Amino acid sequence: MQPCGTALSCMPAAFLLLHLGLISSMAQQNEFQTGLTGGEVTLNCTGIPPDSQLFQDATVVSWKYSDTLLWRMEKNTRYWKKPSFITGRANIKMQYKQLCVWNLKLSDAGIYTCEYGTHKVHTSLHIFKLTISLDGHFLQNEVPELILIQNSSSPLPDLSIVLFDSDNNRIIPEIKSKSRQKYIVKLKKLEIMDSGTWVCQVHSDSPLINRNISFAVNVLGFQNPDLERKYATVDSTVVLSWHLNSQNIKWKEGFTGQLNWKQQESAKSHKLLDFNVTAQGQLHETKKSNNFLFEIPERKPEGTIEVKLPKVHFNQSGQYQCQLEYQGRYSQSKIELVVMKVSANPAGPLSRGANMTLTCQVSGQLPPNAYLRWERVNGTEMDMKNSKQREVKLEVNISAAGLWSCHLIEDSDKKISFHYHVGKHLKHKNIQLFFVPSLLAATDKKDGTSKTILAGKQDMSVPTVSGDEGTQNGQRLFSRERGWITGGKKLNLSLFGETVQLHFSIFSSYSC
Ligand SMILES: *[C@@H]1O[C@H](CO)[C@@H](O)[C@H](O)[C@H]1NC(C)=O
Ligand SMILES: *[C@@H]1O[C@H](CO)[C@@H](O)[C@H](O)[C@H]1NC(C)=O
Ligand SMILES: *[C@@H]1O[C@H](CO)[C@@H](O)[C@H](O)[C@H]1NC(C)=O
Ligand SMILES: *[C@@H]1O[C@H](CO)[C@@H](O)[C@H](O)[C@H]1NC(C)=O
Ligand SMILES: *[C@@H]1O[C@H](CO)[C@@H](O)[C@H](O)[C@H]1NC(C)=O
Ligand SMILES: *[C@@H]1O[C@H](CO)[C@@H](O)[C@H](O)[C@H]1NC(C)=O
Ligand SMILES: *[C@@H]1O[C@H](CO)[C@@H](O)[C@H](O)[C@H]1NC(C)=O
Ligand SMILES: *[C@@H]1O[C@H](CO)[C@@H](O)[C@H](O)[C@H]1NC(C)=O
Ligand SMILES: *[C@@H]1O[C@H](CO)[C@@H](O)[C@H](O)[C@H]1NC(C)=O
Repeated sequence: MQPCGTALSCMPAAFLLLHLGLISSMAQQNEFQTGLTGGEVTLNCTGIPPDSQLFQDATVVSWKYSDTLLWRMEKNTRYWKKPSFITGRANIKMQYKQLCVWNLKLSDAGIYTCEYGTHKVHTSLHIFKLTISLDGHFLQNEVPELILIQNSSSPLPDLSIVLFDSDNNRIIPEIKSKSRQKYIVKLKKLEIMDSGTWVCQVHSDSPLINRNISFAVNVLGFQNPDLERKYATVDSTVVLSWHLNSQNIKWKEGFTGQLNWKQQESAKSHKLLDFNVTAQGQLHETKKSNNFLFEIPERKPEGTIEVKLPKVHFNQSGQYQCQLEYQGRYSQSKIELVVMKVSANPAGPLSRGANMTLTCQVSGQLPPNAYLRWERVNGTEMDMKNSKQREVKLEVNISAAGLWSCHLIEDSDKKISFHYHVGKHLKHKNIQLFFVPSLLAATDKKDGTSKTILAGKQDMSVPTVSGDEGTQNGQRLFSRERGWITGGKKLNLSLFGETVQLHFSIFSSYSC
């Protein structure tokens, strides 16, 4: 395909070179034009009458490069010189005898002269070549280099270079090295938002050059920040996700990656999964760890690496690092998982006048502006205790029952809260029940069927009437709690999430 308008048959042929000897009376004109390697230019034979008129005048028209004849027309017979550097990359637009050259090379720079009758039009063709490092394919945080080369048959001008990013923000680049011919400039540390078409604006005063050269920048990476903190309470379900941007930028190359976990900065890293993304954008994941309890969710947004920790343990906190690899280069994004747990000593309801120690603890380090707070709110009254900044453990000695909450506060935002219900003894004489396990029968509230519950522990006791049990974020601490009732043989309690009604057949009791 010839991009420059109508293709003409270019017949290489021998022809006669005529010296007209009219130099003294010639009209001269000088033009200037720039071209880009790989691109095309159309050089004007300025002032030439249209083809129809030339035909009547039988004027001779020729195009030369320096002193080399490229093309000649005489009495409406057209010739191309024998194969030259331009063969196959040029044609003449017949109406105004414009020379069109495509797939430009640096060496095409020079003076092109169009002669018709006594007129000479000289066009100085100035060629630029712009290359971007790594073929324009980068990972986050990489700094591309741009190489600009110029060539001309006249002295090379001193260029000034300004860049415009994909958002059209002006960037003054750092010039790394510079000669008249070759400029190496550094862009900036790339982020995924920098993907798109950039513009290199080249300027010189003499000759006057104002040329915009566009180039493509692709930045592959994670839509997550480099480091994210995620907070969870122990036993809750945690999903950690990393979103790749490969689909948004239509990255047409394959790459691989992995997800690693380590509990602390200095600890050994464990590989949780390997993944790869094909050039067509398909993601494959392979689980790599059997000891670490996690799942790969089946349904998730496209281009997302995800792990699910169904009942997170305190010891599963730490750094989860997702890393991608492309052509031996790496980019990563970390999620720091912080897990919060709460415990009471002694466990169980609070006796009148007694104290209890509540401990709230988070795994791992906290950012400098974070601290823990224990609080109990009852109407307008509030009990509160704050930790020092960055302290990962906060104890509070309490003598009031109610709902105690431990908050992790960062920049005055409550990042996570753990609610702990402290029950209290009833005011009057209480009876504590100790069950003989095999004789404990329960009626299931839902279907009314009776079943026998074999309590696992000899000292297991019954939580009291509604509201006075110790709870952790809504889950009863059944096996560890002791309970009190004021008498009677029936009571309802929540057992493993279901309400059951208990009928006590045999029990021993004591008064306190
Ligand atoms: C070449 O000539 C055409 C037609 O006269 C004009 O529109 C165009 O701007 C000229 N190009 C240059 C580079 O001077
Ligand atoms: C620059 O152009 C000249 C012709 O004008 C050519 O001889 C030379 O090889 C070119 N330089 C480069 C680096 O291509
Ligand atoms: C070059 O690009 C910049 C930024 O997009 C624009 O402001 C300027 O007008 C363009 N200049 C030319 C000569 O096209
Ligand atoms: C991508 O992962 C799948 C599944 O683990 C594997 O079968 C395939 O060979 C991998 N492809 C590449 C290019 O690594
Ligand atoms: C975390 O602790 C639990 C017991 O609480 C244990 O079963 C598990 O193996 C531990 N996991 C790791 C990764 O250390
Ligand atoms: C309970 O704690 C308060 C303050 O923390 C203290 O003054 C009091 O002596 C404690 N009582 C008991 C029984 O430990
Ligand atoms: C809580 O009480 C225990 C035992 O009475 C005591 O050792 C501890 O220092 C107290 N802690 C606070 C924070 O008052
Ligand atoms: C809450 O406050 C009210 C009024 O001050 C008081 O009667 C009640 O005992 C308090 N409840 C708890 C759980 O401390
Ligand atoms: C226990 O549950 C039964 C069935 O839901 C209900 O009829 C009964 O009133 C409940 N008893 C108490 C003390 O809440």
